[in-house]
Amino acid sequence: MKILFLGDIMGRSGRHSLRDHLPQAIKDHNIDFVIANGENAAGGFGITESICNELYSYGVNVITTGNHLWDQKEITNYIDKDQNLLKPYNFAEGSPGLGFNIYELDNKEKIAVINIMGNLFMRSCDNAFFKIEEVLQKIDVNDLSFIFVDFHAEASSEKMAMGHHLDGRVTAVVGTHTHVPTADANIMEHGTAYQTDAGMCGDYDSVIGTKKQEFVRKFATQDTERKRVPPADGIGTLCGVIIESQDNNFLAKNIQSIRIGGKIGS
Ligand SMILES: [Fe+2]
Ligand SMILES: [Fe+2]
Repeated sequence: MKILFLGDIMGRSGRHSLRDHLPQAIKDHNIDFVIANGENAAGGFGITESICNELYSYGVNVITTGNHLWDQKEITNYIDKDQNLLKPYNFAEGSPGLGFNIYELDNKEKIAVINIMGNLFMRSCDNAFFKIEEVLQKIDVNDLSFIFVDFHAEASSEKMAMGHHLDGRVTAVVGTHTHVPTADANIMEHGTAYQTDAGMCGDYDSVIGTKKQEFVRKFATQDTERKRVPPADGIGTLCGVIIESQDNNFLAKNIQSIRIGGKIGS
């Protein structure tokens, strides 16, 4: 099975990078399944029902999220109605939404998508390393052609540690949240594909997808006011990774980063 995973979709520029490039990328690379992190899809802060539907219309199958999930109030009522929109599994017990799910393709192959959030320099949530074990106990890996983990975390050390922790037990561990694509795509010792951060889908003439002037001013003036900085609105780059699993088991055969359009695309 061949999947495309897209990093954090940042505002309208990010959504339009999917509109403009995703359908063709699916054809060009023979993609079976598309997963995208949508935590910043609504003006940089959260996601709404209509934006979920917009992303599905471009070819996204499953949307993962992160710390910004609840920024738009309507999502708390919506998430339980949409089995293709995931929250980090280690969010507070009792919060709405699914932290992982299994999807069956037309050819009957199955993929598990798991969303989990890091603990280092992030808002508080249950321990990711403990909670991932709980998920793996709940799924029958032998029944699956692909097991994908979006690890939404700040620290590259924590992400790499999670990659090695899951090496040989899932198909891929790919990081999100830092919005900068890392050049470390590889297949680890025991067969799991890994990249520290998928990068964002959005305008790279920015500071991690937000208006550069405003962010520079905040740093340059030591402004500590917690004011939302709006997303940059130039042409977005579609940014992510393509991962293929083996024909006879769920381990990875190949991982390749892709960037299309915008400032850093090819
Ligand atoms: Fe993000
Ligand atoms: Fe995030």
